[in-house]
Amino acid sequence: MSEDQPRPLLYLVVCAAPPARHIDQLVELLHQAGWCICVIPTPHAASWIDCPVLAQQTGYPIRHDHRLPDDPDSLPRADAIAVVPATFNTINKWAAGISDTFALGILNEAIGLTLPIIVVPYVKPSLAAHPEFGRNLKKLTEWGVDVLPNEVIREGDDKPVVHFSWRPVVEAVARSL
Ligand SMILES: Cc1cc2nc3c(=O)[nH]c(=O)nc-3n(C[C@H](O)[C@H](O)[C@H](O)COP(=O)(O)O)c2cc1C
Repeated sequence: MSEDQPRPLLYLVVCAAPPARHIDQLVELLHQAGWCICVIPTPHAASWIDCPVLAQQTGYPIRHDHRLPDDPDSLPRADAIAVVPATFNTINKWAAGISDTFALGILNEAIGLTLPIIVVPYVKPSLAAHPEFGRNLKKLTEWGVDVLPNEVIREGDDKPVVHFSWRPVVEAVARSL
């Protein structure tokens, strides 16, 4: 990315799975890679993260709820979207076209707008084995979404600390434009 080009904007949709607690690390790496970031948590994830600190880090408000009809749109348009971590719940609802959270509304609209989208599932094996989950990931792929392997960001498990590797996400975001 050259110095004089405007920085592209990524909506980072964050679901309620453990990597959400460390999402500031991914924001930092994406900033270093030249992206502006708007964090859009699901309502569950919003209670897992420090929204005021992330708002300060990104320079954008952290929205997890629908605005009122008369309220102005507070977020600029995205160039791409990444869903990190993506839960079983949000993936299945998204593939079904359900829009009952602000984050899902953004994701469903992004399919219609054909925006570049990266999804990083983070789902334990017993849930990932559910037949509908595999079908839904396939559906998202067919819709043009870049679906990374499940738990690709899970690096090590020195219980009780789990480490996350954000490199596959940064690389996927870089090739999205
Ligand atoms: C401690 C804890 C850890 C969880 N880890 C995961 C996980 O790794 N993956 C997942 O899909 N759901 C996980 N869940 C369940 C989700 O948080 C739950 O399904 C929630 O409704 C997801 O909401 P969202 O998809 O709107 O973010 C976890 C829940 C708890 C309480």
